[in-house]
Amino acid sequence: MENSFSRHRRLRSSENMRRLVRETRWSVADLILPMFVQEGLLGKEEIAAMPGVYHYGLDEFRRAVVEISKAGIPGILLFGVPEQKDDLCSTAYHEHGVVQEAVRAAKQENPDLLVMTDVCLCQYNPTGHCGLVRDGIVLNDESLVLLAKTAVSHAQAGADVVAPSDMMDGRVAAIRTELDQSGYPNVVLLSYAVKYASAFYGPFREAAHSAPSFGDRRSYQMDPANVREALREAASDVEEGADMLMVKPALAYLDVIQTVKEAFDVPVATYNVSGEYSMVKAAAAQGWIDERRTVEEMLTGFKRAGADFIFTYHALDAAQWCRE
Ligand code: PBG
Repeated sequence: MENSFSRHRRLRSSENMRRLVRETRWSVADLILPMFVQEGLLGKEEIAAMPGVYHYGLDEFRRAVVEISKAGIPGILLFGVPEQKDDLCSTAYHEHGVVQEAVRAAKQENPDLLVMTDVCLCQYNPTGHCGLVRDGIVLNDESLVLLAKTAVSHAQAGADVVAPSDMMDGRVAAIRTELDQSGYPNVVLLSYAVKYASAFYGPFREAAHSAPSFGDRRSYQMDPANVREALREAASDVEEGADMLMVKPALAYLDVIQTVKEAFDVPVATYNVSGEYSMVKAAAAQGWIDERRTVEEMLTGFKRAGADFIFTYHALDAAQWCRE
C-alpha cells in the first residue's frame, strides 16, 4: 500500500522515545524564586491569594534560604515590605532597610546563592506609585536619583544582581553610572525592560502593600497590545548598560519573549507573575487542573518561547518535581 501520509506518532510511541526527541527542557537551574521579606515580622505569614508564598520575618527568611539552597535553586529575587513609608521613599535606600538586611542574611546563610533585588519605589511611598509623585504626576527624572541610590544600597549589602522594575526612562543608565562610581562595577543589572501594565499583578500588590492609591500604572508600564514598543524599550536598556532583560508577565506574552530573544544577544528572563500563580493554585485547589502538569507545561512554554531563565513562585515545588 502506498504511504500517503506521515506517521508522526512513531516518535511518540514510548516515554523513552518522547524524551529522546524532546526539543525543550527546563531544570531547576533555570528558576529564580521571588520572596517577600517584611520588616518587624516575627515568623512568617502566608499570603492569602498565593498559597505556599509567605511574608517572611528575618529569622524565618534565613531558614527559607537554607531550604531553597538545599533544593538547588540558584537564586532569589527580594521584595521588601517596610514598616515606614514616606514621600522620599527613604526606607528604600536605608542602610538597614528590610531588603538590605535580607541581602546580608541570605549571603550569610549561603554566599553562593544569587541574591537579586527588585529596585522600585512603590512599596516605600504612600502613593504606591513606582516613582516620586508631585501634583498627581509620577515624575521621571527626579525618581532616577532615588532608584540609583536604592540600587547602590542593595549592592553595598551584597546583592549580586539589581533589577529595576519601576519603568522610569533612563533608570538603567542612572543605576549603572551610580553603581560604577560607587565601586560596584561587577554588580549585574537585570532590567525589567519590557513590563506591561497588567491585571496579573493583582495578588502581588496585596502582598507587597503597593497598590497605587490613585490612578494606575499605565503612564509608565507598557500597553499589553504593543510588541514593537517592547523592542524600543529593550534597545534603550541594552544601550544604557543592562546585562540582562526581562519580559513580564509571562503567560500572555510568549510572543514578546520570542521577539525580544531574537532581537538581542543578552540573556532574556521572564517573570511568571503573582496572578498567573494564583490562577493555577485556585484551579488546582478545586481539582479542576493537575497542578504539577500545568506548571511543568507553563515552564516548558516559557523556555520554548526563548526565556533563558524564569522568575516563578512555583520554584520550590518545581525543584522537588525535578528530583522525583
Ligand atoms: C513593583 C513590582 C510589581 C511586580 C514586581 N515588581 C508590581 C507592579 O508593578 O505593580 C509584580 C510581581 C508579581 O505580580 O508577581 N514595581
